[in-house]
Amino acid sequence: MNPTANLIDPMNLAESLQTLLATATADVEAAADVAALDAAEARAVGRESPIAAARRNLGKMPQEERRDAGRLINDIAKQIEAVVADRRQDLEAAARAATIAAEFVDVTVDHLTMPTGRIHVIQQVVDEVCDIFIGLGYHIAEGPEAELAWYNFDALNTPPDHPGRLESDTMYLDYGNPEDEMLLRSHTSPVQARYMEIHDPPVYIVAPGKTYRNDTVDATHLPVFHQIEGLAVDEAITFADLKGTLAEFARQFFGSSTRVRLRPHFFPFTEPSAELDVSCFNCDGGESTCRVCKGVGWLEMLGCGMVDPRVFEAVGYDPDAVTGFAFGMGVERLAMVRHGIDSIRHFVDNDVRFLDQFPG
Ligand code: PHE
Repeated sequence: MNPTANLIDPMNLAESLQTLLATATADVEAAADVAALDAAEARAVGRESPIAAARRNLGKMPQEERRDAGRLINDIAKQIEAVVADRRQDLEAAARAATIAAEFVDVTVDHLTMPTGRIHVIQQVVDEVCDIFIGLGYHIAEGPEAELAWYNFDALNTPPDHPGRLESDTMYLDYGNPEDEMLLRSHTSPVQARYMEIHDPPVYIVAPGKTYRNDTVDATHLPVFHQIEGLAVDEAITFADLKGTLAEFARQFFGSSTRVRLRPHFFPFTEPSAELDVSCFNCDGGESTCRVCKGVGWLEMLGCGMVDPRVFEAVGYDPDAVTGFAFGMGVERLAMVRHGIDSIRHFVDNDVRFLDQFPG
């Protein structure tokens, strides 16, 4: 129903146009959305509107009244259009505001943070050492933690009466039957024998992994710890290659000014054997009060030596055709020296206040 229909009385044009303006204004203002406004606009000034009818009627008017009447109609039509334009602006602004309110995302709202884990400092050191040797052309090898006594001892030229073979030192899974004695490997050296057994020379490998010894926990011992084994076998490998390789490793791991020295030692599977010391990265051997080396100037790092010919024989290599060197280092020891950690227990306490200090 058009509230503005039939509002215009040609006999009383000015007054009825004012009434039309008032009615159309109310109609427009009542429009709740843009579609309703379009309809109200059509009712007030569209083709079928009283305004249009009044314009059509102008032709029938006497010449002298026509101009004023036309002006009056146009004036009211303009005022109605102005009211429509205002209302349109308001409705569009309201629609925009409603969309913004509906789609609002509060990016400042606090979100749930899931604490992420990190790589354990021991694994970080393993990765770093392996990376250094990969850079020198080595490959990674692995072996089982539950090991045959044959690989842990016999293949490595370790005699049956060696003290390390006692139950008091090595953790056995099956003890006393020499044929298939099983144990938790006491070092990573059995990987040497296993690898050479199935690979022809040349061999350049590092073998990281867990190792087990029947030790009581104290500041420097854990019954479960980690080692990284190294083995290089080729034609004419010399003791100089051993020293040069380990010196390069020490410089990359501890710093470019690190010096190394070898002290004679004994291992059943290498001859000659040595222990490698590195110059203290903290005081460079210069301070009697250094907390890292305790004033010694040198840090004991690893065991090493030239592969004993009897090991080559045990794995089926010709000891006259190849030579090689091997080394084994304790990962916890490397990490303690590198980071100034005073007790090996920290590595297994699982205290995040400790572990968080090594973000990697
Ligand atoms: N396996 C020896 C140890 O655990 C270290 C070592 C490895 C020594 C290789 C010489 C050659 O102490």
